[in-house]
This record gives sequence, C-alpha cells and structure tokens, in this order.
Amino acid sequence: MHVAHFYDKDTGTFTYVVSDEKTKKCAVIDSVLNFDIYSASTYTKSADAVIEYVKSHSLTVEWVLDTHAHADHLTAAHYIKSQLGGKTAIGEKIVSVIKTWSEIFNLNDVPLDGSQFDHLLKEGEKFYIGEIEVVVMHTPGHTPACSTYVMGDCAFVGDTILMPHIGTARTDFPGGSARTLYQSIQKILSLPEDTKIYTCHDYPKEGDKPHCVATVAEHKAHNALVYDGVKEDEYVVNRNRRDAGKPVPTLLIPSIQVNIRAGELPRPESNGKAYLKFPLNTL
Ligand SMILES: [Fe+2]
Repeated sequence: MHVAHFYDKDTGTFTYVVSDEKTKKCAVIDSVLNFDIYSASTYTKSADAVIEYVKSHSLTVEWVLDTHAHADHLTAAHYIKSQLGGKTAIGEKIVSVIKTWSEIFNLNDVPLDGSQFDHLLKEGEKFYIGEIEVVVMHTPGHTPACSTYVMGDCAFVGDTILMPHIGTARTDFPGGSARTLYQSIQKILSLPEDTKIYTCHDYPKEGDKPHCVATVAEHKAHNALVYDGVKEDEYVVNRNRRDAGKPVPTLLIPSIQVNIRAGELPRPESNGKAYLKFPLNTL
C-alpha cells in the first residue's frame, strides 16, 4: 500500500491517493476544487495535480472518498470522477447533513437521500482498493457524518483529529458535538499504537512545512487537546470555550452547497449560468 499526499496551501488541506501497488488500483481521499471567493470562480489546479499523479503512475481510481462534508473547501470529487472514473462515497449519515443544510439554504434541487453519491458507507462496512481492505469507522462530532477510513496500519481521519500541535476539529457546526467528538477520538486512539493517523489539514507558519501524519502513540503523548489523561468533561469544556465566537470559515457558504451535491455545481439557470446562495443573517 502506498500513500501519496498533496497539499492545497490556500485551504491548508491534504488530499491523499492510496494505491495498491500490486493491482494499481487507488482511492482519492478529500480532494480540493479551488475556489476564488472574490470572483466566485472554481478552478482545478489542486485536483489536476492529483489527476496528473494518478495518470503518470498508471493507476485506476476505484473510489473517490470524502471523510465528511467539508466547510472550508469544495470537494473535487465530481471533477475527479469525471476525469478518472471511480465511485464517489461518504458516510451514510450524510443524509442528516444534507437535510440540515438544504433547509438553511432553502435548496430544493439537492436529493435528500444522498443518491448524488454513488455509495453511502455504513459503520463497520468493509470495501476494497484493489486488495487493500478498508474498514469504515463512523467518527461523528465535528459533523454528524464524519468517517474514518482504516486500512492496514493507516487511518484517514479527516478533521476528527488534527496534527498534535493543533488538536482536534471544531464542533460548532450544525449537528456538531464536543462530547461526541471526544468519544469518536477514543475509538481512533484505541487502534494499535503504531497506527499512522493521516489528517485533512495543517496550517504551518509561513516558511514552515505542513505535516500530515502522526501515530496513535504520538497523539496520546502530545496531542494538544486529547493527550492521554484528558477526561471527557475536561475536553468538552475546553473545546466549547475554544469554539465560542469562532468565525465562520471563509469558504463555508460555497463549500457546503457544493459538497452536499457530491461536488457537483448547482444546475445552470435559464441564462446558462450557475449560482450559489447566501443565507442572509443566518449563520
Ligand atoms: Fe471539516
């Protein structure tokens, strides 16, 4: 099994390509569709780097996965699939996230049953990337639909656990819960000590390199918020204090509307142009 990572500097996001060296099959996890908020323009620089890698290594995409409906970047799942094939998938609890945000944005063209994704993954479900077995772990808290993908000695956790110096995801989005997140993190930290935890983000200082992986043992020793010994109630108080008054992510409004569509842009209107909405005085 080989893990390649790609860093989108604008959003601090890691995309992964996990490949089975034997069968040349791969999965893309947490891709990025670039978005310029000022001109409301999408572009594909980050996803094209992933596509170039997949093509130059003669890989076949089986899965285009997201760990959750991201609020800080648009997923390129639809674009990646259109260029490379593969099936899009996300945790089955995405239906509650779709419902919540469809109501907030008053969208009536987004399927509420999650059928915009090719497959909805259940807790404990197993699937394969070539001969690599992947086990789905439902790890809600940051959002109600976050999944961790466990394969071999690697776990792709999305934002559930961030790099040790950052700690964990925020839990102040609709359906988020610090208590639930703590419990999900305990599930991840009960994996073997040498399990490599690949996270979705790092935000290094200018000039420093971003890092994407730390082991379970390293998190237990050094994670800023959930090191060994931090009790649930203590974490909940700390997390909620940190999240109080936190600004809404810059790209939340475009991200959510695209991500609950599995990365597809809204349908063009009668003039051939597609639009996103801004819910005024709501968020
Ligand atoms: Fe997130």
